[in-house]
Amino acid sequence: MTLDLRLAPMAAVTNAPFRLVARECGAGPLTSEEIDARALVAGNARTLELTRVLPGEQPVAMQLLGADPDVLAEAARRLEAAGADAIDLNMGCPVAKVVAKGQGAALMRDPLAAALILRTLRKAIGVPLTVKIRGGWDDRTVNAVEIARIAEREGVAALTVHPRTRSQQFAGVAPWEIVAAVVDAVRVPVVGNGDVRSAADAAAMMRATGCAAVMIGRGALGAPWIFRGAHVPRDERARIIRRHCALIETHLAPRLALVQTKKHLAWYCHGLAGAASAREALFRAPTAAAAQDVFWGLW
Ligand SMILES: Cc1cc2nc3c(=O)[nH]c(=O)nc-3n(C[C@H](O)[C@H](O)[C@H](O)COP(=O)(O)O)c2cc1C
Repeated sequence: MTLDLRLAPMAAVTNAPFRLVARECGAGPLTSEEIDARALVAGNARTLELTRVLPGEQPVAMQLLGADPDVLAEAARRLEAAGADAIDLNMGCPVAKVVAKGQGAALMRDPLAAALILRTLRKAIGVPLTVKIRGGWDDRTVNAVEIARIAEREGVAALTVHPRTRSQQFAGVAPWEIVAAVVDAVRVPVVGNGDVRSAADAAAMMRATGCAAVMIGRGALGAPWIFRGAHVPRDERARIIRRHCALIETHLAPRLALVQTKKHLAWYCHGLAGAASAREALFRAPTAAAAQDVFWGLW
């Protein structure tokens, strides 16, 4: 069985440096973190920063968050012009202030609005359109199959399913049987997502659901070598961590680089003896270099 392992979009995590590291470890097609369509169209500087792609990342999809079809279409056109290889619509974000605006997972409970958005996006761009959905809004309204069929009818090239409902957030176990039901219901490739922490888990998900590829989110935090699909020796892990830190320093603005270095090094501490106190020291570190000193002292 060939494993097509992909890095899941994660806000404030899967920026260009982390995506490139994942790609260098063997990750398949990449997806940006969610990009607010309205902020992008308004020219917000921080949002524009999210659209940056590094050489070697392609193919990379840009993921849009929004609810207004015309704003989403304009944002998608701009992302396509900027070099996005695909546009992905976020229909899974559970955050209260997002769903309050009818965006993210709120689109799961408004199939008509979702269809109109997808139709408008499909007409607006030439590159493939994809969508990332949840199982549904809550356990009384599990409708991933219905939404997937609508998305297929509206011309999406593929869809990703994180089968928890919006109400579940991250609680409980991801019900992979919903991924399987979506695979059975549509002909476009389905990417399965949820609770995959190893290549063995990914193979199990592919066997259990028939999905075409597997997307890994939390399992890649502090462990981008998961995309190798095999054991990665300690010295090679160290090389990957150094490479990641160097990419952050080179490509992110200094303030963001400091935050990202600390955040990722804290994840890389996972499993090391003394990780808890090292994390505290990491977050107190005044510079990225100081944070790295703390980390390598622990390593
Ligand atoms: C910190 C964090 C940020 C996330 N941001 C996004 C996002 O921007 N877009 C999106 O579609 N999903 C987002 N997700 C959801 C993940 O893509 C994925 O669906 C979820 O974590 C389940 O997969 P996992 O069990 O492999 O982590 C985020 C998840 C986490 C943990």
